[in-house]
Amino acid sequence: MSASRQELRDLVAAFRTHLEARSRCGALGVPRGPSPVTSPALSLAEPDAPEEPTTPYPTPPPVLYDEGQVMHSGRGLTALRAEIGDCQRCKLARGRRHIVFGMGHPEANLMFVGEAPGAEEDEQGEPFVGPAGQLLTKMIRAMGFERQDVYICNVIKCRPPQNRNPEPDEIAACEQFLRKQIAIVQPRVIVALGKFAAHYLCGETTPITRLRGNLRTYREIPVMPTYHPAFLLRDASRKGEAWSDLKQVMALLYHMGLR
Ligand code: URA
Repeated sequence: MSASRQELRDLVAAFRTHLEARSRCGALGVPRGPSPVTSPALSLAEPDAPEEPTTPYPTPPPVLYDEGQVMHSGRGLTALRAEIGDCQRCKLARGRRHIVFGMGHPEANLMFVGEAPGAEEDEQGEPFVGPAGQLLTKMIRAMGFERQDVYICNVIKCRPPQNRNPEPDEIAACEQFLRKQIAIVQPRVIVALGKFAAHYLCGETTPITRLRGNLRTYREIPVMPTYHPAFLLRDASRKGEAWSDLKQVMALLYHMGLR
């Protein structure tokens, strides 16, 4: 390929990246440069046409998907993260360091949903990186996956003070983002870690000791409720039950032809 053709391709790629970045920031188009037609007599502009908006990045950013027509990909997740912005929708915003959005494969077949970030997650901005996260990583590996093969997130994206339970108004403000993450990733199976995720995704308040191991659905996606890894760190005698729940998930994925 000639040097000038490569340069043109690089330019187009750079411009596309620039447009995507502008779009994520909420820009609705490219600012018009000076018109090549400079003579007032030839100008096509109406004499009193409304002025261009002075702010090039109007807020709020446009929603680049809706749940009926999602971008099933990393771009959909990037758009969703931009929609969350510097979220102030609930009181947890005051004490958080980072919004812990989620991480992993944007088109994962398997999704893990926890409760809310803890201290280390708040510090690093990534879900399940503290002690409970290390156990979750072992559970994922025991299933034959790596963290980057699956998608990991929480019901609540900001750390509650002293790791207290999320409150109803906080769940109400944040649940839309989990709903949209699921719509974008479109996992084939979800593992609900602990009672908050299980109650939200299963739509029932059965105690986790009875709910775990019993397959439910969330919008037709199979959900396996199991114990939260933090609980398993406190009571190792429950690990066998959690492993049997995960084995059910592995069998389900195998049945779906995904393993
Ligand atoms: N506990 C959770 O529920 N989520 C995390 O990300 C970390 C600990």
